[in-house]
Amino acid sequence: MINLLHEHDETPPMAAMPLFLVFFLAFLALLHLAMKQQGAARRSKQNKHKKPADGGLRCLPPSPPGLPVIGHLHLVGFLPHVSLRGLDARYGRGGLMLIRLGAVPTLVVSSPRAAEAVTRTHDHRLASRPPSTSAAALLNGSLDVAFAAYGEHWRQAKKLLTTHLLTARKVQSYRAGREEEVRLAVAKVRGAAEAGGEVDMSELLYGFTTDVMCRAVSGGRFFKVGDRTRLFRELLDATAALIGGVNMEDYFPWLLRFGVYRRAICAKADKVRKRWDELLDRVIDDHEGKMVEEEPDFIEVLLSHQHEYGLTKDHLKAMLIDIFFGGTDTSYIVLEFIMAELLRNPRVMSVLQAEIRRCVPEGQQMVTEDNLSALPYLKAVINETLRLHPPAPLLAPHYSMTDVHVDGYMIPAKIPILVNAWALGRDKSVWADAEEFKPERFMGIDVDINFKGNDFQFLPFGAGRRICPGMNFSISTLEIMVANLMYRFNWEVPVGMGCIDMTEVFRLTVHRKEKLILVPKINALRIVNNNFNNKS
Ligand code: HEM
Repeated sequence: MINLLHEHDETPPMAAMPLFLVFFLAFLALLHLAMKQQGAARRSKQNKHKKPADGGLRCLPPSPPGLPVIGHLHLVGFLPHVSLRGLDARYGRGGLMLIRLGAVPTLVVSSPRAAEAVTRTHDHRLASRPPSTSAAALLNGSLDVAFAAYGEHWRQAKKLLTTHLLTARKVQSYRAGREEEVRLAVAKVRGAAEAGGEVDMSELLYGFTTDVMCRAVSGGRFFKVGDRTRLFRELLDATAALIGGVNMEDYFPWLLRFGVYRRAICAKADKVRKRWDELLDRVIDDHEGKMVEEEPDFIEVLLSHQHEYGLTKDHLKAMLIDIFFGGTDTSYIVLEFIMAELLRNPRVMSVLQAEIRRCVPEGQQMVTEDNLSALPYLKAVINETLRLHPPAPLLAPHYSMTDVHVDGYMIPAKIPILVNAWALGRDKSVWADAEEFKPERFMGIDVDINFKGNDFQFLPFGAGRRICPGMNFSISTLEIMVANLMYRFNWEVPVGMGCIDMTEVFRLTVHRKEKLILVPKINALRIVNNNFNNKS
């Protein structure tokens, strides 16, 4: 998996790179010279991608000028989606650009037209994933969905997710659990509001999304015991560090030929996998032999299809890691950005609050999922946040399985492809006032743009065969939480804090850097019964 990381903004000069990285790159350069044979082999392999003399390099998408050994790594800044958009504006053609990240040629896609070519027209040849040693070691050889190479295993595993686990009907069946978790979160905010205090929204929203997910996965009975929730969160962090960290072998795959290096990577991943195994073995064992509930949780569904799909316990565990890892961080990031944008745009927040407070029947203390269909502005606010802040701004890397011709350019086989969803959402040629937060752009009878992978200027969940299967699940989670936070409370930034800092940090997903601390004030206007423990 290609991971481009660092903090802060825009492209850093080389001097701003951490010292160890400079030394490491110098070491790599020396090593590179010493490894003439491998260099020659690699060059000849790359040359295979070029057309004969007359066509030459012009057949490949254009590239910025690069450096020996590191290629264009020095041009990719702390926020890769931002610097890649800048590079595309300067060097790309039609939204296509070829860069070299260390030794790895990588296609960058930055226009809706090019995104359509990659994720629809040529999807069947470009929908694999780059090999990743860390992910393979963590997921027992990529037995999951998200990191699995395109092929029969991936097809079956994805089918299981989309036809049994995450269908609209199944997501609807987790409604009671979702509403219960919202109720618990709202009660915490209310406690803070009554005490006139602040709320660490980052902590609250992260806790909420992990609790919703744990409840859907195991019916809520497993993770609430002891310190399992804490262990679970530690594991999510360790997984993010492993897969979203600096993995030099992703840029210099020949490093893996050194046994010591490969063993070190695998040992790191094994350590995290063993901890996941310990937790997931227990949660699966806890389910085996038990009566299936009327509305089975994820594990019960997976177990009930285990034989039909020929899944081993290792498959189940790898798929659960995917679901936890893909489903919690992303939803949390969006929730936090929604709250941050609403606080930065008080007009939008008051329009949203007015819509919700008008539509929810008088005396009802919680917004329920029955009310959500009458809240178009809420959906517009969520869309607008996903447009400006897609949590996975470069999606997950796609990977070419054969040579493909796109718009007159040759895309070589076996290279990673980064679709810059963040740049698509801010493309000035398709979005008016592209940098501004204006949910109204998603309203109106003539507006028909959605995130389901057919509008290539708006791809927060990806598109094509690799599209996210968790869309329904996450949107239901976001809608019910935001609706209640806006219904029950008015929100302010703490006195003396000034404006909300929107600095981002890239780590496979993009987070806000600073914690979001807010002051809630109870909106008591229409609430008849204030007892939060009574279900409405
Ligand atoms: C706001 C929330 C979410 C966002 C923005 C999001 C976004 C994405 C993106 C961009 C991809 C990669 C698409 C591509 O490669 O073209 C993806 C893949 C995936 N997501 Fe999500 N996701 C979210 C929530 C979820 C949830 C809740 C689940 C599970 C319950 C989930 C499970 C997955 C899986 C399994 C994949 C891999 C699909 C494949 O490789 O075929 N995601 N998601």
